[in-house]
Amino acid sequence: MGSKKHIVLVGPMGTGKSTIGRHLAQHLQYPFFDSDHEIERRCGASIAWIFDVEGERGFREREQSMISELLTSSEAGLVLATGGGAILSEHNRACIREHGCVIYLHTSVDEQLARTSKDKNRPLLQTENPREVLERFMIIRDPLYRKTAHHLVSTENTSLKQVVSEIADFAALS
Ligand code: S3P
Repeated sequence: MGSKKHIVLVGPMGTGKSTIGRHLAQHLQYPFFDSDHEIERRCGASIAWIFDVEGERGFREREQSMISELLTSSEAGLVLATGGGAILSEHNRACIREHGCVIYLHTSVDEQLARTSKDKNRPLLQTENPREVLERFMIIRDPLYRKTAHHLVSTENTSLKQVVSEIADFAALS
């Protein structure tokens, strides 16, 4: 591995961060963490419930401390999948870049929509027009993903195996 200890995956909802992260971790024999799952585990409540009770603001505070804790408390390298909005915080962007080799998993809004359409645990998409939300998010967030990441990998029309080996190869050199 290169000098960066951890590998951090950023990108929009439905780009495959959790699935790719799990397989990448297995490939590298690293532990895998998903910040949303860790928040749910810590709170004993779903993301949807946290948004309901504490609002997006409460969720973002939990997200910030979880990401910082995960990236700073492990001596050994890990793979971390972050939530799609994690990069909105300047603190998160700096922390992620400082502690990890950051990969932007990119995919089209069509693909994001297809992969998230049946999921009820993404509160920001529980609206009449999730496409509009995903398009709006992409305009705001794409520059932030690009600015935070060291490398961009497209997850569209690419096999899981290919994506995993592209990330592993990049991380080994960085
Ligand atoms: C969010 C993405 C979700 C989750 C929360 C908010 C976002 O994570 O953190 O619902 O703002 O894009 P995934 O990207 O893993 O779906």
